Amino acid sequence: MKRNLFISFFASGLLTIIFNPVSLSQNLQGWEASPELVEKLSKDRKDVNYYEDKVLAYILPDPLETLSGERIRNKREWLKYRRPEILELFKTYVYGRVPRTPYSISFETVNENKAAIDGNATLKQVDITIGASGKSLVIHLSLFTPNTVKPAPVFLLICNRSIENIDPTRNIKSEFWPVEEAIMRGYGMAAFYNADVDPDNYDEFKNGIHGLLDVEPRKPDSWGTLAAWAWGASKCVDYLATDKNVDKKRIAVVGHSRGGKAALWAGACDERFSLVIPNESGCGGSALARRRYGETIEKINTSFPHWFCLNYRMFNNNEDKMPVDMHMLMALIAPRALYVAAASDDLWGDPKGSYLSLYHSLPVYRLFYPDMTLENFVPPLNNQVISGKVGFHIRDGEHNLKLTDWNFFMDFADKVWK
Ligand code: GCU
Repeated sequence: MKRNLFISFFASGLLTIIFNPVSLSQNLQGWEASPELVEKLSKDRKDVNYYEDKVLAYILPDPLETLSGERIRNKREWLKYRRPEILELFKTYVYGRVPRTPYSISFETVNENKAAIDGNATLKQVDITIGASGKSLVIHLSLFTPNTVKPAPVFLLICNRSIENIDPTRNIKSEFWPVEEAIMRGYGMAAFYNADVDPDNYDEFKNGIHGLLDVEPRKPDSWGTLAAWAWGASKCVDYLATDKNVDKKRIAVVGHSRGGKAALWAGACDERFSLVIPNESGCGGSALARRRYGETIEKINTSFPHWFCLNYRMFNNNEDKMPVDMHMLMALIAPRALYVAAASDDLWGDPKGSYLSLYHSLPVYRLFYPDMTLENFVPPLNNQVISGKVGFHIRDGEHNLKLTDWNFFMDFADKVWK
């Protein structure tokens, strides 16, 4: 009999979750990984688990119980005690801490075109210059706002792909940043290139913003590159909040894959983002680490030693010892809006684990919005589910950020922002 058993109960301060490995019926209940794809990927990578029935039972830390065992009963207690505690845990053990080094910041509009996109939008290209330690770096921010909507809600993309994907001249148009479509729907589009803030390679933290701000010797909880990109997104908001064309109450941060991990962390740290959209952000992003499905902490720390803080390596093949999991990162976004997206071929990024993170963040969201509910199985392909301030879709196909995804993001924004 096909069934899915979900049991949660509180035991010794821990939320215990047991998943029955027996598969769900695709048609009746929701999405499941294609068995053919699972077979194929498993053949290619014997060291990676893609089988749902090999996911072992795990226990998630309870977002509503403090480290000292106190129960969080309402939003006031959450905001006062548990939220700051969880934020600290993610700084200490996952993404690392931003140094306190003083720095200067200035904005210069280096190009403005009030008749961009066939006269429908205003383009501003703004240089955000950060200075410290006698050095400086520039984050090149591009911003299109619709001429008919002032001030406009804006999506800020952390671009982790090649810079052509965010071409301000619009000679190159990429689905990764579909400016024209967004403008037609009344949304502004902003983007910066992640490597402006920090290069995506292991350079012993000598370059990028680390080269400016890391004046003390590095510690086990010093920030990595994902935290640097997230910080860069916040510097863009420092500018956006000053721009009269931008509605500063409606700024979203969007990122894909490694950019999605950074977007989620940016959203957790910076409450000026009223909407947070991690697209296919997988391990170290939206996917529950304890499932050990697809990419794992050990794998990501080995391939990308610069992304996280050193402490994160304690959890290589040792996920159960982490005081957090990614449902708690999502809970940090509450009561703001959160949209999680996945793709059916991206099993490396664990679509199911990403949905379950969102699902398990709901006890926190419900402190603010008691009526929010989600099913405990992944929704069917290409179907958007929305409950209150959270939404999810799994698109069919490859690991990518496509116009289809953006259309779902904008549909969600239409609901939570308008
Ligand atoms: C690699 C990495 C992922 C990451 C992805 C990407 O596959 O293992 O964690 O999300 O690159 O950024 O495209």
